[in-house]
Amino acid sequence: MSIEHLEDIAQAMVAPGKGIIAIDESTTTIKKRFDSVGIECTEDNRRAYREMLLTTPNLGQYISGAILYDETLRQSTKAGVPFTKVMADAGILPGIKVDKGPVPLAGFPGDSVTEGLDGLRPRLQEYAKLGAKFAKWRAVIAISDDNPSGTCIEANSHALARYAALCQESGIVPMVEPEVLMDGEHDIEVCYEVTEAALRSLFSALYEHNVLIEGTILKPSMVISGKDCDEQAGIEEVASETLRCLKATVPALLPGIVFLSGGQSDELATAHLNAMNTLAGRPWPLSFSYGRAMQQAALKLWAKDMGGNLAKAQETVFARARDNGLAALGKWK
Ligand code: 13P
Repeated sequence: MSIEHLEDIAQAMVAPGKGIIAIDESTTTIKKRFDSVGIECTEDNRRAYREMLLTTPNLGQYISGAILYDETLRQSTKAGVPFTKVMADAGILPGIKVDKGPVPLAGFPGDSVTEGLDGLRPRLQEYAKLGAKFAKWRAVIAISDDNPSGTCIEANSHALARYAALCQESGIVPMVEPEVLMDGEHDIEVCYEVTEAALRSLFSALYEHNVLIEGTILKPSMVISGKDCDEQAGIEEVASETLRCLKATVPALLPGIVFLSGGQSDELATAHLNAMNTLAGRPWPLSFSYGRAMQQAALKLWAKDMGGNLAKAQETVFARARDNGLAALGKWK
């Protein structure tokens, strides 16, 4: 697989003013989201919901790629058009979640490690044939008085690096996602330390596994106060601490960084991204790969009348894409 091919995809993912929509919830996770709005989690409802998102008019203006779940990559619109064709027509790159989720790390209560490496090579080869241009693997790092252990960080970095090398072998750009969870009472400094350790370990593992940095995209969490911390850091502090942490750990060769929203409100996720993009000295494009912060308002509207509110739900998706696209340029107000 040519290096240029990977670089071109990675660059397209972080084209100026564009970002990623994450709609790769596993069946278990989308069931939780559907339960919260009273929708039954059937295959056809999942298909209809994802069709609403992917057929949003003009979505490609602000969205460069969408991360799908295995089932979604194989689905079509009600009229029978494969989702991958809908995306190609809209100029949106198909991505695929390939990890099999976090499991408790034996011997380290409270820590987890993400599984999914067994059989990954043939799965990636099949995904490439189905049209996937990039993939995602999420490692989960929880913070508590006793977590994370160094072993948790190393085990997850090792898995991320093996996954990334396998992706590149199949001509797929790996999105590497070490998510430091917002849950907990910790302050922003603790989040900084854990994020710094996770990113240092990740880039060292990528280097050891001969992963081409120019063909890789980082999807990190922001450096932010724990959800239950009494003192919540403000927007400017989150922006400057996140950028400082990234500059200390991420090679300038990386084509781009796209953040997850991680449970932030829609508006805060946009405001933090915008604030970062007004700071000087950014070596990479900083954009978004939001799941909840792109979808939660639209899901509520769509669920009210399953399709009756289609146009309104799509307007909301488009508005979220536009706001985050502007924030990726530091132009959101
Ligand atoms: P959130 O933006 O909801 O955190 O989801 C992004 C994602 O893809 C997590 O893996």
